[in-house]
Amino acid sequence: MNIKWDADKYSKNFAFVHRYGNDVAELIDCKPGGTVVDLGCGNGALTNIIKNKGYKVIGIDASDELLDLARSNYPDIDFIQADATSFSLKQPADVVFSNAVFHWIDKEKQPLMLDCVNRALKENGQFVFEFGGQGNNALIHGALDDAFNKYGYSYKCPFYFPSIGEYASMLERAGFLVKYAVLFERPTELTGECGLKDWINMFVKRPFEDTEIKNKEEIIDTAVESLKKDLYKDGKWYADYVRIRMTAYKT
Ligand code: BEZ
Repeated sequence: MNIKWDADKYSKNFAFVHRYGNDVAELIDCKPGGTVVDLGCGNGALTNIIKNKGYKVIGIDASDELLDLARSNYPDIDFIQADATSFSLKQPADVVFSNAVFHWIDKEKQPLMLDCVNRALKENGQFVFEFGGQGNNALIHGALDDAFNKYGYSYKCPFYFPSIGEYASMLERAGFLVKYAVLFERPTELTGECGLKDWINMFVKRPFEDTEIKNKEEIIDTAVESLKKDLYKDGKWYADYVRIRMTAYKT
């Protein structure tokens, strides 16, 4: 999760991340005045939306760049710098909320994160979240795989996109009762004529860093060109998002 973010570009071109998070925030089940933790709060835009629903909020993120932005945009919100797999709270919270974060955490580290969330919650506290589920960006990662192979490299998708069955079992092992789970496709419009190229450059960094890749630009252009038939419609780029959304309660 130690990713260096271009916070301004992220906020300008990828604002859809927190806009879509509004629907997840609607699932928060808590009395007014209760405490809601926004785990992986990024630039704080959703944390602020949750605060305006009448909750006390705490934003947690690992990225100093995004937290700097969050603190300057929302100076009255408590933001904490911590990793999702090792954070702890002084007082347990009523709800832990998270949007578009957990796919960044490797499968082996998910139980560490779920333990932290469990410890951070009051008895019967709610855990509500959405992230990339099974099949997320399958066309994009398939095209990158082909393009890497074409230039003599191998590609490993750097994200964790589980099925409902896999993730519900993990939650149960970590001490949660799953009450709601859904996996759904959500094609997502990207910003600008270079929308897909910008998306890849912003989000798919690790495969280009793990090996010394000399042809990064050509590889991305090859993948983008091959995706045009599926993901470019009426002058707009779309990413083939699949979301997993769940609510679970600390038992
Ligand atoms: C997602 O929100 O599904 C996502 C965003 C960036 C990279 C990978 C997945």
